[in-house]
Amino acid sequence: MSDVPALSIQGLSKTYDNGFSALKGVDLTVPQGGFFALLGPNGAGKSTMIGIISSLFKPTTGSVHIFGTDLLENPSIAKQYLGVVPQEFNFNMFEKVEDILITQAGYFGIPAKEARPRAKRLLTALGLWDKRDSKSRDLSGGMKRRLMIARALIHKPKLLILDEPTAGVDIELRRSMWEFMQQINIEENTTIILTTHYLEEAEQLCKRIAILDHGEIRINTEMKGLLAQLSVETFVFDLETPLNEQLALTGVTDISQPDKQTLEVTLTEGESLNGVFDQLSDKGIKVGSMRNKANRLEELFMRLVDKNIESANSMKEAGL
Ligand SMILES: Nc1ncnc2c1ncn2[C@@H]1O[C@H](COP(=O)(O)OP(=O)(O)OP(=O)(O)O)[C@@H](O)[C@H]1O
Ligand SMILES: [Mg+2]
Repeated sequence: MSDVPALSIQGLSKTYDNGFSALKGVDLTVPQGGFFALLGPNGAGKSTMIGIISSLFKPTTGSVHIFGTDLLENPSIAKQYLGVVPQEFNFNMFEKVEDILITQAGYFGIPAKEARPRAKRLLTALGLWDKRDSKSRDLSGGMKRRLMIARALIHKPKLLILDEPTAGVDIELRRSMWEFMQQINIEENTTIILTTHYLEEAEQLCKRIAILDHGEIRINTEMKGLLAQLSVETFVFDLETPLNEQLALTGVTDISQPDKQTLEVTLTEGESLNGVFDQLSDKGIKVGSMRNKANRLEELFMRLVDKNIESANSMKEAGL
């Protein structure tokens, strides 16, 4: 059992009733035990894939195995292994917080008496115990998100899938959610798959990452190797000292001045950001703030698309 992947997907495709092809033959294996990130731009097919895994709808072709059990052949066994936090809130808005967890446990054949201590533990850990008697519609957005997580964990799934769990969640709460998830991962040995738009989030938590784009897996790799591809970065400096002339800096790949108060500097690996700060301070230029020009995930996608265009062009040139 220890070698069986937590999730194994083969040749998965989904064509919706309107003829749109959202998944085009996806193969994906997620090993047991760790955190796995599934990234992709809007419309890539992430939620479609998760919808199939959670049996919301059937694939057009392909198969899904959860801890070795075929989801289509043995759905009731496969579902025992699985907890899913969908992108959209989908609980009964009029049911009370604690009751939502007890009802969910009932779907898995867990009697209320047994489910109650587990519900208390989860709600406490997620900061919702005080709200146990509130109707779920009376919770804030962040609380609803945490309730979705508690509900998905009530039957101690071996695999937890979270579809953008931190969308619309503030930084403080995001951090505590991830601490909780790390605890579940270690203490209950739960394999966790998450989708996110934030590369930083994936980078912090996940060893492996897959990128889905237009219904196809473009990359499936170790996080470390992927970040190494992002060797060029552009930084935007908001200046307190206006620039009245063209600035020259050494040890940078590119420099531009969109306006008097803004400076954009592109650095390649090995070139130092501190070096830029030193030169600016030598010139008496004060920096108010600094940020990355592009979201790093967007940058990665741009590069992927560029690479695809390049290889398509070279294929054309080669007459292929
Ligand atoms: N029921 C449906 N009928 C037709 N097309 C659909 C349906 N559901 C989703 N799609 C289309 O399938 C594609 C993939 O959608 P999906 O929700 O899986 O993307 P996603 O990767 O989860 O995006 P996001 O990051 O925005 O959540 C989109 O182009 C979407 O419009
Ligand atoms: Mg989605």
